[in-house]
Amino acid sequence: MREKTRELLKTEHYTNLFSMDKDNIVEMLKFDEKDAEELFRKAREVRSKYMEKFVVRGVVEASNYCRAKCLYCSMNAGNEKLPRYRMSADEIVKSAWKGYNHDIKMILLQTGEDPLFLDYMIPAIKRIKSEMPDAEIICCNGERTEKEYQALKDAGADKYILKFETSNPELYKKYRPHSTLEKRLNCAHLIKKVGLGLGTGFIIGLPGQTDEDIANDILMIKNLQPTPMASACPFIPNKGTELENEKAGDLFYSFKVVGISRLINPSVCMPACSPYEYLKKGGQIDGTGIGCTSVTIRLTPDKYRDLYQLYTNDRITINLDMAKEVVEAAHANWENF
Ligand code: 5AD
Repeated sequence: MREKTRELLKTEHYTNLFSMDKDNIVEMLKFDEKDAEELFRKAREVRSKYMEKFVVRGVVEASNYCRAKCLYCSMNAGNEKLPRYRMSADEIVKSAWKGYNHDIKMILLQTGEDPLFLDYMIPAIKRIKSEMPDAEIICCNGERTEKEYQALKDAGADKYILKFETSNPELYKKYRPHSTLEKRLNCAHLIKKVGLGLGTGFIIGLPGQTDEDIANDILMIKNLQPTPMASACPFIPNKGTELENEKAGDLFYSFKVVGISRLINPSVCMPACSPYEYLKKGGQIDGTGIGCTSVTIRLTPDKYRDLYQLYTNDRITINLDMAKEVVEAAHANWENF
């Protein structure tokens, strides 16, 4: 089996890669460094052929209020120690301008599952769209109703990120006890139904996850097509959560996951996410060598940053200079195959 899987990576017929099955994926997840190099090379090749360029996105973390109870996230509703904040539409627009002035035209408006999110999201989206007409707005605000997704779309939003987190329904229920995988996937369906581009993805290395689970996660991205964006980020234990003493996801393993995802989903935008950098200095630059196509910088005002601790208390904050370095590294390995 391993030999067959290795052979697969030599193919010039990309359709063989796009249609690879679960057994091949599980086999690749077990690759050692040497075999993984071949996988990464092929992922770069596919990315270079199917994707035009590496993009920088700017994120405004507009509110850390959250009604959800995710065991892995320090912003979960049960964390009473965390002071909560909510930005005004005016603050959000000002933050978006900080990015736009540096030519960042993909603005990600992220919040916890704040029940009041439409109050500031709608005016903020409308103003960004009128003041920065060529900006793309990506929302990431959790599980919502069709009406709410529609309201974002009507205000001018372009895309919406809702990762499914894990395709294993039992693990899903364990780590997100307030919801179900079925509900999550239905939200993904509603997002597409109202005409927003769906960004999706999952977490790598949640305690109890197996190679089979991860293979199913990778295949789930394909099942959710069309999806313009997908992220595969390693689990980072958050302080103050039930999972704080668990092991973090492994970077090398995560890179194999991203490489395989790239082979199967050639033209999907995949971020070199901040946990790569957290796990290893230079991790995001390394991510450009395995098929990643975007990096995100934070536009959130300083006074709120420490309160939006998605991954860790000492979340790595990429600045514009670092982002430029990552873009340069990416374009340097955009090989001519
Ligand atoms: N480790 C990795 N990813 C996480 N997310 C939230 N908490 C963690 C964590 N501890 C991701 C989830 C969520 C997104 C907004 O952040 O995938 O969908």
